[in-house]
Amino acid sequence: MNKLLSSVILALVAVAAVPGAIATPVEERAAQTNFSATCTGISFNASNNNLTATCQRSGGIGTATSTIGLNSCVGNINGILTAGNSFSSSNPAGTNIRTTLDLNSVLSNTNGISTCP
Ligand SMILES: *[C@@H]1O[C@H](CO)[C@@H](O)[C@H](O)[C@H]1NC(C)=O
Ligand SMILES: *[C@@H]1O[C@H](CO)[C@@H](O)[C@H](O)[C@H]1NC(C)=O
Ligand SMILES: *[C@@H]1O[C@H](CO)[C@@H](O)[C@H](O)[C@H]1NC(C)=O
Repeated sequence: MNKLLSSVILALVAVAAVPGAIATPVEERAAQTNFSATCTGISFNASNNNLTATCQRSGGIGTATSTIGLNSCVGNINGILTAGNSFSSSNPAGTNIRTTLDLNSVLSNTNGISTCP
């Protein structure tokens, strides 16, 4: 084997070893997806049903601000907010009821971007 090839192989072995060594522990990765624990400046625009938040990026490398339409995450089943979609376009035939949904159950933080799981 020539010297160049063996040093290339050595470099590849070194690269392959790095991800395991610096990989984020599973618990830490789970915590970084926790919407309310990792996002701030959360605001909701009731005119277009968009939610904007600034969320930590993976590995604590800064933050990102993103906007997500809650109609793609939240539904309305017989007046109760649930995970689903199109909550704002439901056309109630009966009485209106007041309902609350924990946004942690529908939103998560994917490397700084608010997402519906
Ligand atoms: C997410 O973070 C909140 C605090 O902001 C905490 O109450 C909740 O237990 C966490 N959920 C999970 C699944 O870790
Ligand atoms: C909220 O949405 C409306 C309708 O799209 C838009 O005109 C308005 O600028 C938005 N408000 C903010 C604070 O982004
Ligand atoms: C807000 O919502 C509207 C309507 O759903 C969408 O077209 C628009 O792109 C959203 N704004 C942002 C900044 O994502």
